[in-house]
Amino acid sequence: MATLTVPIELTEPELKLLQTLVYQECGMFFDERRSHFLKDRLQRRLKVCQLDSFYAYYRLLTSREGKTELAQLLENLTVNETSFFRNRPQLDLLQKTVLEEILKRKQERRDFHLRIWSAGCSSGQEPYSVAMLVADALAYYYLRNPLPFDMPVPKPIIPPPWKLEMVASDISYAILRVGQQGLYTEQQMEPVDYTTRLRYFEKVGDKYTVKQQLRDLVQFDFHNLKTEFLPRRTDIILCRNVMIYFDEAEQKRLIDKFWNCLNPGGYLFVGHAESLFGLTQKFRMIHENNGTAYQRLEAAT
Ligand SMILES: C[S@@+](CC[C@H](N)C(=O)[O-])C[C@H]1O[C@@H](n2cnc3c(N)ncnc32)[C@H](O)[C@@H]1O
Repeated sequence: MATLTVPIELTEPELKLLQTLVYQECGMFFDERRSHFLKDRLQRRLKVCQLDSFYAYYRLLTSREGKTELAQLLENLTVNETSFFRNRPQLDLLQKTVLEEILKRKQERRDFHLRIWSAGCSSGQEPYSVAMLVADALAYYYLRNPLPFDMPVPKPIIPPPWKLEMVASDISYAILRVGQQGLYTEQQMEPVDYTTRLRYFEKVGDKYTVKQQLRDLVQFDFHNLKTEFLPRRTDIILCRNVMIYFDEAEQKRLIDKFWNCLNPGGYLFVGHAESLFGLTQKFRMIHENNGTAYQRLEAAT
């Protein structure tokens, strides 16, 4: 006969303690609307840890020995939904307007270093999509303005003298490993057209793998947006569908940090359901053909 396991009661004070701890650790805020998700994940972790109360679990999480379990809990609370070329109008704006403007500006200064950061990159579709868009934009640029020297063979996907540094970060180690592996199912590849597949992917069994040259461009790193130092001198930051899980105070703090991380005139992209409206005066909005971006304003301090 199957034995019924009765879930251990999570009291209101315990819930508050754990809610606050999660917020302090990663910025994710589980309000009433989303607290059932938090409760469900807490029940699961309590079972795995074989503890008999949520207060004991809280004590574990806040102890030195509980660091690994804390990371596990945070991984279990993240939503990793993503796709290749997500929000196409926004990426068109990135490729056709933003990138053109940055490349022109940098070329005039003979600065050929491009730095892009996908913050909350999930399983890698976002940084790989952007790296492909940059490579295509540069290839097209040199088709119109041929280089005064022969391209090395095999042809690099980022033509010299340009260098692309694509940083992809997330709070989940498990999801970063998926991105690093760069192996995607037919279903995940659905938004990728066949010319792009030919150029940047190889077929391995019934899956597709990102070609080595493209994979080498993307550097996956663990990074907690709430607590850790952010990279500086960045030209473009994508933080899409991440801040939606943070409360307003944390969103404001993060936008401020992004402003500091961007080069003068750099751009920030947020998710389609997110906006900087009412959160900052330090960016100007650019809206074109249903795509939105935010450019850092210099008068701000
Ligand atoms: C819904 S996915 C968005 C992925 C991608 N940016 C996109 O729009 O397709 C949100 C990602 O943010 C990550 N995340 C949540 N909180 C984070 C934090 N404090 N620091 C870094 N990454 C975080 C999650 O692990 C998850 O992979």
